[in-house]
Amino acid sequence: MSDFHIRAATSEDARFLGDMLVEAANWNVAAARPRIAVMEDPKVSRYVAGWPRPGDFGSVAVDANGAPIGACWGRLFAANAPGYGFVATGVPELTLGVNAQWRARGVGRALLQAVARQASLAGHARVSLSVERANFAQRLYISEGYVTVESGENSDTMVRAVH
Ligand SMILES: CC(C)(COP(=O)(O)OP(=O)(O)OC[C@H]1O[C@@H](n2cnc3c(N)ncnc32)[C@H](O)[C@@H]1OP(=O)(O)O)[C@@H](O)C(=O)NCCC(=O)NCCS
Repeated sequence: MSDFHIRAATSEDARFLGDMLVEAANWNVAAARPRIAVMEDPKVSRYVAGWPRPGDFGSVAVDANGAPIGACWGRLFAANAPGYGFVATGVPELTLGVNAQWRARGVGRALLQAVARQASLAGHARVSLSVERANFAQRLYISEGYVTVESGENSDTMVRAVH
């Protein structure tokens, strides 16, 4: 039933990471935008633009046929061009998305755990992310050890130690 495994993301996953970025941006289906509109929004597309850049790392979940079904990855942002979940220079910000038909089968949690290991191996002490409080994904993050460090109007910035 839930036959999937996790592998490291490569340069060939750029398109799929874009797909998962669109899933993340469109988590609220009532407010979903077409892929092209999401990818033309520089505040969103910056999470995958030029993938892979130096410092990027990530994991892809694949089904029994090797087809990608979900991805989680980390990217560093500069203080003068921060992502939504920026906390400090040198703390990578994560993006997570799973294909709709594969959700609620443990893929998201497995990806988060794999990327935490990758971040640790890359020498990072922490990772961060931004999540809207209405998104149930926040409960997944809490259960994986993420703690809210800053709250905006609708969203929280969360951090987890990975060392
Ligand atoms: C958020 C997301 C990545 C989670 O991935 P997933 O593979 O569905 O998550 P998992 O199966 O690992 O489930 C993690 C937990 O969330 C719970 N969960 C899964 N789907 C749920 C739902 N629709 N409503 C409430 N809880 C849910 C699971 O029960 C699980 O908790 P448990 O282990 O205690 O049972 C996925 O739903 C997704 O891609 N959503 C759209 C994009 C998105 O919101 N990205 C994050 C933006 S910050």
